[in-house]
Amino acid sequence: MTSPRVVVIGTGYVGLTTGACLASLGHAVVCADADQDKVDRLARGRIDILEPGLAELVTSGTAAGRLTCVGTSEKAFGRFLRNAEIVFLCVPTPMGAGGLADLGILETVVRQISELLPPGCTVVTKSTVPVGTATRLTQLLRRDDVSMVSNPEFLREGNAVRDFLHPDRVVVGSADREAAEQVASLYASLNAPIVLTDAASAELIKYAANCFLAVKLSYANAIAELCDRAGADVADVAAGMGFDRRIGKEFLAPGPGWGGSCLPKDTSALLQLADSMDFEFRLVRAAIDTNIRQHKRVVDKIREVVTGTRLGSMSGVRLALLGLTFKAGTNDLRDSPALAVAALLREAGAELVAYDPAVDSADSRIADLPFPVTDDPHHAARGADAIVVLTEWPEFRELDWHRLATVVRTPVVVDTRNLLDASSLSRAGFGWTGLGKPP
Ligand code: UGA
Repeated sequence: MTSPRVVVIGTGYVGLTTGACLASLGHAVVCADADQDKVDRLARGRIDILEPGLAELVTSGTAAGRLTCVGTSEKAFGRFLRNAEIVFLCVPTPMGAGGLADLGILETVVRQISELLPPGCTVVTKSTVPVGTATRLTQLLRRDDVSMVSNPEFLREGNAVRDFLHPDRVVVGSADREAAEQVASLYASLNAPIVLTDAASAELIKYAANCFLAVKLSYANAIAELCDRAGADVADVAAGMGFDRRIGKEFLAPGPGWGGSCLPKDTSALLQLADSMDFEFRLVRAAIDTNIRQHKRVVDKIREVVTGTRLGSMSGVRLALLGLTFKAGTNDLRDSPALAVAALLREAGAELVAYDPAVDSADSRIADLPFPVTDDPHHAARGADAIVVLTEWPEFRELDWHRLATVVRTPVVVDTRNLLDASSLSRAGFGWTGLGKPP
């Protein structure tokens, strides 16, 4: 069987990873994007996102002639589309009014491509879309000879290539079984479990999975708070829980709250969806509330460490923030808990200077932040009343903590990721406070 001709529309981290990985599996793939500059950069092997292994796959796929990048306004795009057998839609579905996913971009693309698709073609949604979107897009397409399939992605930012090539499962849903099987066949060589289902179930699986992860994380953060009060160690509690295979070891590490472009958006969207079906999904609501509370809890902890009391004033207190991205291994600042905590600290009167290995001081995304970002952690730490770790960048362990101790005003670290080793910090002269860790 020859491999189907694939077109991927949208070259964000999901689209580009999908395109480059499918090409690496031997399929002929065209990646298309409306941003022509981005496409031109891609053609030269330059990618904007921090995704290990992705640039290499784009370069090797292009060199092997299996991957082509094209602008959606180029003539060639129409030609590729008219010959496509499978078209993946990987465009953004941002949080819109009232917490619902905004399908505007997706719908525009569907309208644009509708007449160009050849008979027998399959259109696949990869973006996270509300339940019922496949039905809605089928109506928009107005093509009886084109099938609609939902194939949600489960890629973590910063791990996308690995997650694509070693998936826990592949989910494919459609009313057209043959089309679903054709899409599933693209992944055959990965030997992953394949869940073949209807489109609505596939769409719901994505939300159900992401919201479950959010609930798990909020639970872990709440347990960490309990550990603080009970004098227990959250790392041991998590280890003891995680050996139970029904619970699993992952996603139990406490932090300043969960963030990023997916979990906050998807929890809101699932709440809205449930609401629209007259179902109050209290568990997901509680996970969101716990997450918002977590930002405040982190600020209270910092306040207590720096002022010695729960209610002390932070006015004039200087804090060095280590980490701004929503997690390590990505340069993504969207819905970062670090930024939420920073905003609360500013409100409380603290002066902030931040350092993040993936955020340059000249980065336009930080132009509006009400505090400076520096390219040197020692500069951030100068005169600080505390160093606050907000992102779990492993390189923070390798900082010259002895030198940092000589530039701060008070050598204390509040480590919201329990990243650093308290005893090595103590040798450098630093006091250390984590989340859910006994003093
Ligand atoms: C998440 C899901 O994990 C992916 O499976 C999904 O495909 C993706 O959303 C998506 O919908 O596209 P991602 O947003 O990249 O992936 O981030 P995660 O790695 O899930 O981390 C989410 C947040 O939880 C981060 O802020 C992270 O720091 C935090 N986290 C994670 C913890 O606080 N503790 C942990 O133990 C793990």
